[in-house]
Amino acid sequence: MTKRTIVTLPGDGIGRAVLNAGLRVLEAAGFKADYIESDIGWEFWKKEGNPLPQRTIDLIEKHKIALFGAITSKPKDAAAAELDPALQGKGLIYSSPIVNLRQYFGLDICMRPCHSYKGNPLNFIRRGADGGIEEPEVDVVIFRQNTEGLYSGVEWSNPQGNILKGLLDNPKYKKNFGTIPPEQISVSSRIFSKPATERILRAAFAYARKYEYKSVTLCEKPNVLRETSGMMYKMAMEMQKNEFPEIELWNTNVDAQMMWLTKNPENYGVIVAGNLFGDIISDGFAGLIGGLGFACSAQYNPDSGIGVFEPTHGSAPKYADYPVSIVNPIAMIESACMMLDFIEEQTIAAKIRKAITEVIDEGETRTYDMLKMHGSADVVNMGAASTDAMADSIIAHLA
Ligand code: NAI
Ligand code: MG
Repeated sequence: MTKRTIVTLPGDGIGRAVLNAGLRVLEAAGFKADYIESDIGWEFWKKEGNPLPQRTIDLIEKHKIALFGAITSKPKDAAAAELDPALQGKGLIYSSPIVNLRQYFGLDICMRPCHSYKGNPLNFIRRGADGGIEEPEVDVVIFRQNTEGLYSGVEWSNPQGNILKGLLDNPKYKKNFGTIPPEQISVSSRIFSKPATERILRAAFAYARKYEYKSVTLCEKPNVLRETSGMMYKMAMEMQKNEFPEIELWNTNVDAQMMWLTKNPENYGVIVAGNLFGDIISDGFAGLIGGLGFACSAQYNPDSGIGVFEPTHGSAPKYADYPVSIVNPIAMIESACMMLDFIEEQTIAAKIRKAITEVIDEGETRTYDMLKMHGSADVVNMGAASTDAMADSIIAHLA
């Protein structure tokens, strides 16, 4: 096995604690790598006016693979107020480093698997037709377009000049908003490009083929968002017909999908969606398998081979400064497994996943979220495993 260099980005809050747990498990599972830690997040915004310093971008460009913990983001004005006094008044505007990272490297494929673990007390249950309790097995992989849509950042408040003129050229804008003064208008545009839409659709279909899922569900809103969702649906139908005829294409509206989430989650396999709907639907499915402590993700650019692997949770600032970290590292460890899959180290990934499965099923080591406790520094005295204790238990189960 050639030794890889992995860029590690602990970020803020609980990012470092979960990342360290992930690195310990990787090491114990026999993954050989050099790690280079780099800077991202709030501290660097405050100190340098840039939460994603160029040195971090350069390292990722060079080594291609990064493991990322979590960052703290705050609204524009709150961010400006926390800048180092020497940097204030210079017109620096905060924007999320993770969104910037995705756009900079074109990490347009975001993959978020949601698989339920046997024995996880947080698994979704529902009442069956006979009145009994059912625990449907969720095995869903969401492919979220990661760089466009409503997260494109093409937005205006008080649109003026050519922008306003262009808006007024649209008959619907003119009719419904034309008489409202522009200073009372804000616009966020939802942009879908054909190349990026094609890439996310192909990633979803190819995954379904490789892992023998029978269907791909496009989860959008083509009946209302005719141009963007409508284009995506048309492209999905073409692709299915021409390239993936053995896979069924299902089409659901995102609002209805959220309702069906609890009705029949076991019926879904691969789901593909634009940026915001993909974000929403993946959080919805994550809720069925245990929530943020279990929600992992990969974001990558299939052409450059650059990939960033991270739990979907944030920096959970309220738990950040506990002397013993209490948060669940499984989402991070699963994200590390996605990294291993990406760099063709599937054997090590499988070994780690087997250990996680056993630990959860045995039920002796459970973090506070799995015990349905209210998070506090005391939970470890009340029987909850700490972040490190969970990592230790997974390490002990590595065959
Ligand atoms: P969050 O994900 O940080 O935390 C929400 C709640 O989820 C926590 O209070 C905790 O109860 C639970 N939780 C999160 N991770 C957990 C874990 N590993 N184990 C057990 N429980 C866990 O989201 P929140 O509070 O909305 O945002 C906090 C900060 O994180 C904000 O500044 C936000 O902008 C940022 N954020 C960053 C993300 C990223 O780095 N990709 C994603 C989401 C939020
Ligand atoms: Mg999210």
